[in-house]
Amino acid sequence: MSYESLQQLAITIRGRRTIKMFEQRSVDSNIIRDAIEVARWAPNHHLTEPWHFYLLNDVAIKKSIDLIRIIVTEKKGEKLGNFKAQDASKRPGWLIVTCKKSEDKLVQQEDYASVCCAIQNFSLYLSEARLASKWTSGPIIRDQRYYDLLHIDSNSEFIVGLIWYGYPMITPKQTRKEIDKIITSID
Ligand SMILES: Cc1cc2nc3c(=O)[nH]c(=O)nc-3n(C[C@H](O)[C@H](O)[C@H](O)COP(=O)(O)O)c2cc1C
Repeated sequence: MSYESLQQLAITIRGRRTIKMFEQRSVDSNIIRDAIEVARWAPNHHLTEPWHFYLLNDVAIKKSIDLIRIIVTEKKGEKLGNFKAQDASKRPGWLIVTCKKSEDKLVQQEDYASVCCAIQNFSLYLSEARLASKWTSGPIIRDQRYYDLLHIDSNSEFIVGLIWYGYPMITPKQTRKEIDKIITSID
């Protein structure tokens, strides 16, 4: 790989941003399928392939928004419930990514790590396609009612993220700590 291609890869990785504001247009389902195809090439110990991707249609999205309203209202009151529901209704694409459950603590930890890598692959692919995403871990992903609504068996898998995706309206700037602050050389 040439130095230029490596720098291009670095630009792609650095340029992926969590996006909160999306254009109100839908995304071609083929792009999402391609992104999932790439996502599953994440490393996974013992080839467990612990991930599953649930694509939500308009009906499921509407039910999800209603549930967000209910859950946030229960926890924080009606005003915030309505605000969060209205916010969620502006997200064009909805994807749920789950991880297989394991009784073995180490396997569970490693499988979770793999699903996170897969989500990053998915997000990078979208970013390179001039799309964007937001990984949310809000209370809905831990609520049994959401599992019931989506027909996901909470005994055998758990939701790692709700990924909103679409065409970005505003791309925010981000920073990271200086690299020397996160590197320690050990003799
Ligand atoms: C496991 C995980 C959960 C996240 N959950 C949320 C969330 O609930 N709400 C939110 O606004 N952002 C969430 N994010 C996105 C982070 O806030 C975001 O990655 C961070 O602000 C850095 O921005 P960047 O992704 O553009 O670099 C989550 C990210 C990860 C990895």
